Formats: sequence, structure tokens, C-alpha cells
Amino acid sequence: MKTEFLDWNDAQFISLIEQTAATLVGYIKQSQNEEVAVSQLRPMQQNQVALEAEKLILNGSLGNSGLAQFLEIYLKHSTRLHHPKYLAHQVASPAVPSAVADLIHGAINNPGAIYEMGSTAASLEHVVLNWMLKKLSWKPEPINPTAEPHGAGALMNGGSLANLVALLAARSKLAPNAWEQGNPEGLKVLAPSNSHYSIQRALSIMGLGSQALVPVAVDEYERIKVDDLQQTIRQTQGAGFRIMAVVANACSTGSGLFDPLSQIADICKDHHLWFHVDACHGGAFLVSEQLKHLLNGAERADSFVWDAHKMMRVSGLCTAVLVREAETLQNAFQQQASYLFYGSPSLGKDYLHRTVECTKTALGTKLFLTLAWQGEKALAQYVENRVAIAEKAYQLIDARKNFSCPYFPESNILCFRYKNDDQLQIQIREELLNEGLFHLTSTMMGGKRYLRITVMTTATSLVDIQDLLTVIEKRW
Ligand SMILES: Cc1ncc(COP(=O)(O)O)c(C=O)c1O
Repeated sequence: MKTEFLDWNDAQFISLIEQTAATLVGYIKQSQNEEVAVSQLRPMQQNQVALEAEKLILNGSLGNSGLAQFLEIYLKHSTRLHHPKYLAHQVASPAVPSAVADLIHGAINNPGAIYEMGSTAASLEHVVLNWMLKKLSWKPEPINPTAEPHGAGALMNGGSLANLVALLAARSKLAPNAWEQGNPEGLKVLAPSNSHYSIQRALSIMGLGSQALVPVAVDEYERIKVDDLQQTIRQTQGAGFRIMAVVANACSTGSGLFDPLSQIADICKDHHLWFHVDACHGGAFLVSEQLKHLLNGAERADSFVWDAHKMMRVSGLCTAVLVREAETLQNAFQQQASYLFYGSPSLGKDYLHRTVECTKTALGTKLFLTLAWQGEKALAQYVENRVAIAEKAYQLIDARKNFSCPYFPESNILCFRYKNDDQLQIQIREELLNEGLFHLTSTMMGGKRYLRITVMTTATSLVDIQDLLTVIEKRW
């Protein structure tokens, strides 16, 4: 018998999978049926002690028999994304096929970035990327290189990384020598003042400095003010700077409202500027006939980022960067790696040239399996139903005394306020979370603090929103 460190053991694998699957089924049922609190947060040290983490690393005594106890503690103190009272961050409550894809990848570990290391993973990545490109009315990318213009994309680990890659593509267009020679003077990116922090981070990482971000004014509900954008472009160019990209939100993280993409696309066209749409959250709305109008204008963007791990029921992380003109993404990175590439034709596509990561998980497989199980119509229905709950929640909240909703929602994100006290909103969120009753977030908008809900799970219904309002009314 082999005695290698953790050698593959069929019986152990099957037993662990069966045990884990049964436990997870119980966990998800418990969550969906509200038999437990949405989360039971406790200090980090208590978790580490309860899990006997340091001891187990040293003596490795967990084994098959220890798994049950480990899972019990680990899951008990997790955040339950399938729970109807989970209304917090924009993280998917994953569907079964996505979980299965994670398992398959965990066992075979075929990275999707180099064709010879994961040909089926890369093949599916190509298919889902082309599906996404077509949703944007962009030309899909053929398998074999062609002189015909077309779009392109790559999957990567998260929207933050994707925003960085899109901005690298924008830079490659305006300053093609920057990869070798560094940034030229005076590059700026115009983005809504409420844009996701990853935009500013990307600029710092690229060596442009966070001050390369020129904030564009937003209205009280966090949408770009188109007139201010025009003015900011004139001022920035008038001061001798070159604009590398204009960024818009689809939708904004805080309010869930969409920037006027069509008008922004017109402005970018008039000024010959790169237009980047951060559709991490709202990209999935393209699958819905009912909702896709919110993204009108995105088809005229140059780059587009779209998280599958937000509104597509895919576990984290899985984000697409899509570009209208393939060569811009091809030029974003210009690395040599003689141990990987030496000019011979590949049987498929290597995605390594388009991502920060060298080894990456089989991201396309997760998205593919999730779609393949029920098809895009079922996904559209999921998205539409989540938005419908947010719309009805607006009516419920607005009708109640002491509550106010500042705007009608366009997405499944909704902000509201109880009474007129910023500190009270924080107190409500904290107490509800600490007691495991509801998991909400809170955000600033137009100088005021709001409570914020994001309807993600399939278990959440209007009854849960009603419960939330009643609890708040009774206690505060
Ligand atoms: C508009 C927007 N962009 C980017 C991100 C970052 O995405 P990720 O968490 O996948 O890095 C988010 C996350 O909430 C977002 O809402």
C-alpha cells in the first residue's frame, strides 16, 4: 500500500463526498426553511479555537472521522446565502451545477488558461464568452485567428481584477508603448464619483496613481450627470491631460441604478474616448428580454465586465472581461514565457495572454454547467423575479409610516431609510446582524445613510421584507 502524503484514496474520496453532500443538503434546507439564524458571527479567535485549527495543522489528525465535527462548526458559523433573510452583499446563492463544477475542478485541477492543461475547460470558456459577446451584440470570437473584426473575452477571478484588465486594454490603445516604457505623462480615467473602489485601485496598481481618477459628478441617486461628464471631459482635456477611459456603472453598487449608457456612449463617440462599462452586477440583465433595455448603449462600449458570481447563481469567483475589438485585449498584456509558448500552432485557445493569473480555475465550466442545467430562460426568470421582489418591496416600504424609499428600483438592490437619523440606520443593521435575524447592508447616498437590501436568494419572498419592516417598527 502506498503511504505518500495524502495519496488519492477512492474509498476515502467517495465517503467524504457522500458525507459532505449529505451535510450540505441539510445545511441548505435548514437555511431555506429558516430553522437557523442567517448568520452566527463570532470573534475570529473563537472560530480558530473551536476548529482546533493550529493543532490539526501540526498533527493532521482530522481524517474521515473528524470531518463531521469540523463541518458542523464550520457551517454553523458561516453566512447562509440560501437563507431568505440574507439580503446583504451581491454574492450569489449558488445553484447545484455550480457546486458540482467546483467539485470536478477540485478533483482534476485543470487550469483553463493554457489549452494543453485544460482543453475541455478552455473549450467551455470560449463557448460561454461567445454567448456573452452575443448578448452584447458583439461579434463572437472564432476559434482560429482571422482578419475579420470580432470581439474577445476572458474569464478571471473577480470584478476587481476584470476592471484592471479592461483598463489595461484601454491603455494599450491610447499608449501602446506603456507596457515596456511605462506610463506616459498625463493619463486620466473619468469615472463616477461612486464607482467601485476597484477602479481607483486598478489605476494605482498600473502605476498611474489613484489621482489619475477624475470623479464625474453623480445625481442624488448615484447616476452619472451627463452634463457634468461633458464638462469634466472639456476641463480635463483643456488642462492638457489625455483621457484613457470613461467608466460607467451598470448598475451602481450602492443604489443599484444604471447610468445612462446610451448618452454616455454618444459622448464617448463624439470625443473618441474609450468607454468602459462596469456591469459586474447588472451584466446578467442582458439575458432578460424585460430588463435588457437597462443596458442599452453598452453595445457601443469598448469594454464590459460582467460577474457571473453575482446574479447568475455561480459560486465565486467568475467574471468576464469582454472587448468589442479583440486586439485591444490581446495587447493588454505582452509577456514572453518560453517554457509555455514557442510558436507552434495550438489546438485551441490559450487564455493566459489575457489575464493576470497564470493558473486559473475552470471558470467557464462553472458558468457553463449552471446555464446548461436549465438554460438561459430560467436564468432570465430568476433575475426578473429578484427584481420584481425589490419593486414590490419598494411599494411596501414606501407605504409604511416612518419609512422612506428614495427611488423606484431598477435592479434587485433597494435602499431605504427608517426615521431621519443616520446613526439609527447603522444601529439597526448591526443589531439585526448580531442577532442573526436579518443580514442587510447600509450605504451613504446623497449625503445620507440608508439601509440597503439586495434580493439574491430564491428563498426570499415579500413575506421576509414584511417581517423585516415589522421587526424594525416594533423595536425602534
Ligand atoms: C459595480 C461593481 N464593480 C466591481 C465590483 C467588484 O467585484 P468583485 O467583488 O467580483 O471583485 C463590484 C462588487 O460588488 C461592483 O458592484
